[in-house]
Amino acid sequence: MTKLLLGQTLHYTADPFAAGVGAATCHHRHGAVCIDKDQITEVGPADAMRAAYPQAEVIDYGNRLITAGFVDAHVHFPQTAMIASWGKRLIDWLNSYTFPEEMKFGDPAYAALIAERYFDLMLDHGTTSCASFATIHPESVDAFFSAAQARNLRVVTGKTCMDRNAPDGLRDSPQSAYDQSKALADKWHGVDRLGYAITPRFSPTSTPAQLDALGALWAERPNLLMQTHLSEQTDEIEWVKSLYPDCRDYLDTYEKFGLLGKKGLYGHAIYLQPREKDRLREMDAALIHCPTSNTFIGSGIFDMSGLTAAGHRVGLATDTGGGSSFSMLRTMAAAYEIGQLNGSPLHAAELYWLATQGSARALRLEDKIGNLAKGMEADLIVVDLASTPAISQRVNRAEDFWESLFPTIMMGDDRAIHAVWIAGKERLR
Ligand code: GUN
Ligand code: ZN
Repeated sequence: MTKLLLGQTLHYTADPFAAGVGAATCHHRHGAVCIDKDQITEVGPADAMRAAYPQAEVIDYGNRLITAGFVDAHVHFPQTAMIASWGKRLIDWLNSYTFPEEMKFGDPAYAALIAERYFDLMLDHGTTSCASFATIHPESVDAFFSAAQARNLRVVTGKTCMDRNAPDGLRDSPQSAYDQSKALADKWHGVDRLGYAITPRFSPTSTPAQLDALGALWAERPNLLMQTHLSEQTDEIEWVKSLYPDCRDYLDTYEKFGLLGKKGLYGHAIYLQPREKDRLREMDAALIHCPTSNTFIGSGIFDMSGLTAAGHRVGLATDTGGGSSFSMLRTMAAAYEIGQLNGSPLHAAELYWLATQGSARALRLEDKIGNLAKGMEADLIVVDLASTPAISQRVNRAEDFWESLFPTIMMGDDRAIHAVWIAGKERLR
């Protein structure tokens, strides 16, 4: 049965960083999204759409805003239960909080419990797709993909490989990382809406031999994504230099072993040298901005305006639980604040694009998710632009659409997410 969702609609016709906000965006005050089975077939003004689809089932969301669901381009689902752990910077934070928690994921029952909890929270916050790190345990990947498959979600994950500088029980080896990653990719990649990413955690927790093995796997399976961390904190960068004295810079620790490529996702990317920027740009690799994490763990300021102006492919992410929120609205707010500290406030249209199409582009899924357009998979959210008294009273003053959206970006959370649609079906809580 064809469905017509009525409300305000927002979609993108181009990248607002490249084309400008006016040319890149399309807002209908009274709009409609037509869904047939699991796909969007058309977006347009409500009156014309009602006339074009007289038989359709109509679901009227009134003044609420219908957009693509959010896409979180870098998250650690195993860190769900330890989000908001106090007082440490990256390396101490990993050793004190993260590794002890990740140790538990060898137990399939615990992995399944947290995967379910993570997806409940993710969807409550209007995020319909993500690229997550798992743990070193294949069981954690199975748990994540099984829970996602049951909900028909388009998600990405991979076994997080580490063979040094991690505690006993949380290390694999070059060979087992290669074998298990390959077996998991063969088992899950392309099944329903699931995608596998080769996932070395970051160069300090891998030996050169492990990076080499994973680089070889990527060369054999170039259709897979590869996700990792890059240049997040200054102490980390010094550590990388001491562990890889022959490498020119942090990126070179990946590049040297075949782990720089166009389907690569590099989380954080704060302290990039000119050579690193040039190489990432040449490869058209994706840089993933994780602003709540960068403030919470005290990492630094991502250069959004400089990198987008230079044409880098950039996605936006929570980095839960280094990030302090599951909400991509809160994440957009943090990206705005970091932009301000960097001397360049991002427009609401740019922030919302980053949380949808931008992240989908980073995951190379922009032809499937992250926008309202014909042929896209029908992963949608319905956003209440007056979800709290504080937001509502500000919206009453708004003089245009962007001004009515911005208070929800800055102050909104899961209360703003009125409904979530996954592959053409409304999520029932
Ligand atoms: N670098 C290596 N591992 C991690 C992680 O789990 N979180 C963050 N924020 N940075 C990392
Ligand atoms: Zn991370």
